[in-house]
Amino acid sequence: MNNQNNINDIRSKINIVDLISEYVPLTKKGQYYWGICPFHNDKNPSMSVDEKRQTYTCWSCHNSGNVFNFVEQIENISFKEALKKLADRVGVKLEGYQSDFSSKYTKYYDIYELTAKYYQLMINTDKGKKAIEYLEKRGIDSETIKEFGIGLALDEKDKLIKYLKERKYDINTLNDLGLANNDIDTFINRIIFPLDDRNGRIVGFSGRIYDNSKMSKYMNTKETPIFRKGTCLYHYNASKEHVRVSKYVIVMEGFMDVIRASTIGIKNTVALMGTALTEEQISLIKKLSLNVYLCLDGDNPGQDADIHNGELLEKAGLNVKVVCLTDDEDPDSYILKYGEAKFKALIDGALNYSDFKIERLKNNVNFDSDLELSNYVNKVIKEISSINDEIRCEIMLKKLANETNLSYNTLEKKFNEYKNLNEQERTKIEDNTIKRKDLKKDKYERASHEFIYYMLINPKVIKVYDSKKLYFIDANTRNLAAEISYYYHEYGDINIADFYTYLNDKKELLGVFNEVQSLDLNEEISDSTIEEYISVISDYNTRQEIKRLEQLMKKVPDENEKIELLERIRKLRIGE
Ligand code: CTP
Ligand code: MN
Repeated sequence: MNNQNNINDIRSKINIVDLISEYVPLTKKGQYYWGICPFHNDKNPSMSVDEKRQTYTCWSCHNSGNVFNFVEQIENISFKEALKKLADRVGVKLEGYQSDFSSKYTKYYDIYELTAKYYQLMINTDKGKKAIEYLEKRGIDSETIKEFGIGLALDEKDKLIKYLKERKYDINTLNDLGLANNDIDTFINRIIFPLDDRNGRIVGFSGRIYDNSKMSKYMNTKETPIFRKGTCLYHYNASKEHVRVSKYVIVMEGFMDVIRASTIGIKNTVALMGTALTEEQISLIKKLSLNVYLCLDGDNPGQDADIHNGELLEKAGLNVKVVCLTDDEDPDSYILKYGEAKFKALIDGALNYSDFKIERLKNNVNFDSDLELSNYVNKVIKEISSINDEIRCEIMLKKLANETNLSYNTLEKKFNEYKNLNEQERTKIEDNTIKRKDLKKDKYERASHEFIYYMLINPKVIKVYDSKKLYFIDANTRNLAAEISYYYHEYGDINIADFYTYLNDKKELLGVFNEVQSLDLNEEISDSTIEEYISVISDYNTRQEIKRLEQLMKKVPDENEKIELLERIRKLRIGE
């Protein structure tokens, strides 16, 4: 089995700086490497990577850990999966490894897998000829059909049910999975597109009509315990490696867009599948790349969606560009109409989100109307004021001056007004966050956390902890301190990166541990500081104990007991 030593061995073979660099660009500043934290809406680099300790810490959201924690969270996989992934990376074979995929939903995944295979078989039979013809007419060849696992639900009412029943799956499960409904197949006479989750497991299907059927164009698997449309992005898993190379991800609306783009070699794409962009999807996108190209339909609703989604993505700290399609086309029809070269040129010429927004503001403005013109100018200046690049701002203001025949000075004055307003808004928000943090972290908590911080890096402090039998009222803090002491006595010293692994089956302690790790303290500690921590912690404990006894006194009816409690309180007060 994989003991702690084995795991630590794998960890020590990977440099955390190299690993994190593959997901987040890092720059070295002083003793640490710095990057944008992928675990919260970070705009300025607040995550540091400590090469010496082999850990990372976000000073803003307090996420911290070693290579396993990082991979676990960024890939959204379990510790076991992360361990397996990193073991593979360094060529270490894990004994007795069993994937977490064997979870309680294994049966569901198996059924979907089998169903997908069945649909794919069907499209290649005689009965699939018409469907293949339809796809060919749309320029989708057999290779693409295979790549995207496209299949066919036959024009019969219970083919799939029969097929799965023969394999001992019961009808109730098929109902639960959205594959059957009142003993009838959910998908009948439709071309089937399998939908997979972030790890590439099939979690549902979408079926498209392909003849003159009057049924609705697309039909999707209903929501199940493993499928919710708004939490998925089509082609997410398959896009990963391509996004890593191109360093940006293209977001499209439908899966035909993604499939078409793939036929011209553009595979760093995902599709929203016709839903409004959700928080879950944003965090998925963020895991792929911080650079997003929105390439939604070229019609008006599509452009409105570009504006709306761009705003959400920018707020989440992503760099957004917009690919503007013309003539109401979607990427699929655009590529068919204008060809590969033109589409690629469009991507290369994608507009910065702010430029796109300004471009859109121009729509339908009557430049002869003073009111409309001044409205427009104000809106544009407001947009420009939110751009964090002085030179670009100046260029844009000059352009605006030319375009509107207004003096640069007038525009600049307005620009500075907006800029000041933005600044005030920002400091207000920052003040509030700092205040909130201070309120939360009172003196006692700070002393406890700092004490634990030094336990981790200085055995002397562990000895003080042991000899004084220091007690922390908060259970997680108390248990963390106990684990540190235990670990030290068991292993002889504390390697912080390995200690993260040790905490893996004690996840409830990670909250406090992360807080402790994101303290910015000196490595050295004096005896008097240790004394001070202990006195703050003990004082607090005493006060809490007194409070508890006072509460108790209110409840006990017996006079003698009351007197006894009073005596205990008195002794606590005078420090006995
Ligand atoms: N969609 C859906 N249900 C519908 C219509 C659309 O789930 N009734 C989703 C599909 O995932 C589709 C996306 O919304 O891919 C975009 O819809 P649309 O633009 O209408 O589809 P296209 O991708 O253009 O598909 P096609 O070219 O085959 O018409
Ligand atoms: Mn289309």
